[in-house]
Amino acid sequence: MSHPRYVIDQMISAKSIAARIEALSDEIEAEFDQTDKLVVVGLLRGSFVFIADLVRELDLPVEVDFLEASSYGDGMESSREVRILKDLRSGIEGRDVLVVEDIVDTGHTMKHVLGLLGARKPHKLRSIALLNKQTRREVDVQADWNGFDIPDEFVVGYGIDYAQRDRNLPYIGKVRFID
Ligand code: IMP
Ligand code: MG
Repeated sequence: MSHPRYVIDQMISAKSIAARIEALSDEIEAEFDQTDKLVVVGLLRGSFVFIADLVRELDLPVEVDFLEASSYGDGMESSREVRILKDLRSGIEGRDVLVVEDIVDTGHTMKHVLGLLGARKPHKLRSIALLNKQTRREVDVQADWNGFDIPDEFVVGYGIDYAQRDRNLPYIGKVRFID
């Protein structure tokens, strides 16, 4: 499969991301302060960098688990049908759970995942998204915390890919196609 050529314009610097995560971690600590053990659930693969930085800012006992839901395939189109490709290893009944997502775009993925995990009767279920594309929303869902609100642009970096590329960029950039 061949892809059009593009360049990446920086949108959010590594430094801004780090500062935002530090601020968010204080709010998250306050929310889960009384918890015995929090399960932080990263949605694969896009959240892997974010969850790594986030848990290292959390001064709480945490367990880390991962869930993989299908979304875009290899392109830029969102698929409205969400499938679970890899489920959690841990049971979450009675536990405190924080779902960590890279981007809430149309909202289908987050809504599906929160419904699925909510049905397992956690004690507390919260969610955080690094990026929020509010104008793209098709279903009514909000993460409890958002790192940054961004416009309707296709972004890469800091774990987020375009056709599996650019996840290793330390910043968030927007994709701009060139002929
Ligand atoms: P939603 O179900 O439409 O909210 O899509 C959520 C998923 O789509 C995110 O977890 C991302 O994996 C992917 N996604 C949404 N916007 C972008 C983007 O700008 N770049 C790369 N992936 C994206
Ligand atoms: Mg994703």
